Amino acid sequence: MNTLTLGINFAYVISAGMFILGLKMLSSPATARKGNLVSAAGMLLAIVVCLLNAGLDYKWIMIGMAAGTVIGLVAAYRVEMTSMPEMVALFNGFGGIASLLLAWSEYHQHPELSIFIAMVTFLTAFIGGITFSGSMIAFGKLSEMIPSKAVVFTGQHIVNAVILLTAVGSGVMFSINSADSYMFFIVIVGVSLLFGITSVIPIGGADMPVVISLLNSYSGIAACAAGFVVNNTILIVAGALVGASGIILTKIMCKAMNRSLGNVLFSGFGSKVHAAGAKGAQQGEVRPATAEDVYYILEGADSVAFVPGYGLAVAQAQHVVRELGEILEANGTDVMYAIHPVAGRMPGHMNVLLAEANVSYDQLVEMDDINPKMDTIDVCVVIGANDVVNPAALDDKSSPIYGMPIIETHRSKTVIVLKRSMNPGFAGIQNALFFNENTRMYFGDAKASIQALIAEFKSAD
Ligand code: TAP
Repeated sequence: MNTLTLGINFAYVISAGMFILGLKMLSSPATARKGNLVSAAGMLLAIVVCLLNAGLDYKWIMIGMAAGTVIGLVAAYRVEMTSMPEMVALFNGFGGIASLLLAWSEYHQHPELSIFIAMVTFLTAFIGGITFSGSMIAFGKLSEMIPSKAVVFTGQHIVNAVILLTAVGSGVMFSINSADSYMFFIVIVGVSLLFGITSVIPIGGADMPVVISLLNSYSGIAACAAGFVVNNTILIVAGALVGASGIILTKIMCKAMNRSLGNVLFSGFGSKVHAAGAKGAQQGEVRPATAEDVYYILEGADSVAFVPGYGLAVAQAQHVVRELGEILEANGTDVMYAIHPVAGRMPGHMNVLLAEANVSYDQLVEMDDINPKMDTIDVCVVIGANDVVNPAALDDKSSPIYGMPIIETHRSKTVIVLKRSMNPGFAGIQNALFFNENTRMYFGDAKASIQALIAEFKSAD
C-alpha cells in the first residue's frame, strides 16, 4: 500500500468515526445540532479525500456537485417545516437513483464481473431502483400530488411476489454472467422501479412516515452495496450506517404506533383509516371556552403539561408557547411539555420546534414518563394535537388507530384543547376526548389563541 492510499484510508477511518459520533449526538436534543455538524464535517472530509483518488474526470464531478449543491440549498431554504417528510422522501429517492446509476455505469464500463461484484451490482441496482420509485410515490402521496390513501387491489400480494421472483431470477442470471447479462440487467432495473411503485401504493395515511424511514434505510443499503461495486470503503461504512439507523428508526416508529412492520407494509391501513374518517361524527356535547375562561383555569393550576401536535407546527406557535410557559412558571406553576414520538409529521418534529423556541430540554417529558403521573397533573393544554391524544387508541377495537400508544391527557384533571374546528387530524377520525366532561375546547388558530392568553395574564398583572 503506497503512502497516498494509506493516507486516504486513514482519513476514511476519521470520517467514519465522525459519522458515528454525530449519530450518537443526535440521540439527545441538547447535542443534536452539533451532531449534525460533526457528521456533515465527516462527509466533507470523505468527499475531499475521495476526490484525491487517481483517474477521476473532475469536469463531470464538478458539474454534478454544483447542480446538487444548488438544488439542495434551494430546497432546504424553501421547504416549510411541515413539508420536511416530502423533502426527506425526495432526497432518499435521489440517493437510490444515484446508486442505481453508479452500478449501471460501472457495469457498462467493466462488463466482465466476478460473481461477487455481479451480485452486489444487482443488489445496488435493485435496491436503488426500489428506493427511487418508492420514494417518488411517497413524495407524491405526502405532497398530495397523487391520492394519499392506500391503494389496494385483489391479488396485490401475488403481483408483488411475481415481480420479486422476476427480479431474483434476473439477478441470478446476471450474476452467473450469462450471455444475455445486459438484457437481465435492464430487466432488473425495470422490475426494481416497478416494485418500488407496487410496494408503496398499498401504504397510506399515518403509515407513510414509517415507509419514508424504511426507504431511507434502503437508500443506505443501496449505497453500501454500491461501495462494494466501486471498492470504496467510506461508501460501504456510510451506507451501512444509514441502512442500520433507518431500520432502527423504522422499528421505533412501528413501536410508537403499536404495529408490526409487516402490518404497516401489507395491511393497506390508510384505506381503512379514511373510510373510518367518513363516519367520524360528533360524539356528544362540546364545551367551548374563551381566553378568559382558560386564563382562570391556568392561573389556578399547580401543574400544566403542554401537549404539542401538528397544529403547533402549522400555527408556528412554538415561541408563544414558550412565553406562556415562562409566565406560568413565574406564577409558581410546574410546567412541562409532553412529547409523543409521532406527534407532527416527522420523527422529532416537536423536539425541533420547541428547541427552536429555546424551551429548556429539562421540561420535555416523553410519553412513557408522563403517562404514569397523568392523574396528578392539573391541566393538560393540547395544542394542535389530535390523534396522539385520542383515547380510541386505547379502548375502541374498531378504531383504525387502536393499539397506538397515546399521551393519556383524558386522565388529567382538566384538558384544554386548542384547535380551529372540530375537524379530525391526520388519521381522519373523530376524537372522544373533545366530548369529555373535563375537556374544554378553546377554538382558534393556536398562535392567536395563546397570544390572547398571554394578553390575559399581562392585563391581570
Ligand atoms: P393530527 O392528528 O394531525 O392533528 C392535528 C390537529 O391540529 C388537527 O386536528 C387540526 O385541527 C389542528 N390544527 C391544524 N392547524 C392548526 C392551527 N393553525 N391552530 C390550531 N390547531 C390546528 O396531529 P398529531 O396529534 O400531532 O398526530 C400526528 C398524526 O400524524 C398521527 O396520526 C401520526 O401517526 C401521523 N404522522 C406522524 C408523522 C411523524 S413521524 N411524526 C408523520 C406523518 C404522519 P383543526 O383543523 O380543527 O384546527
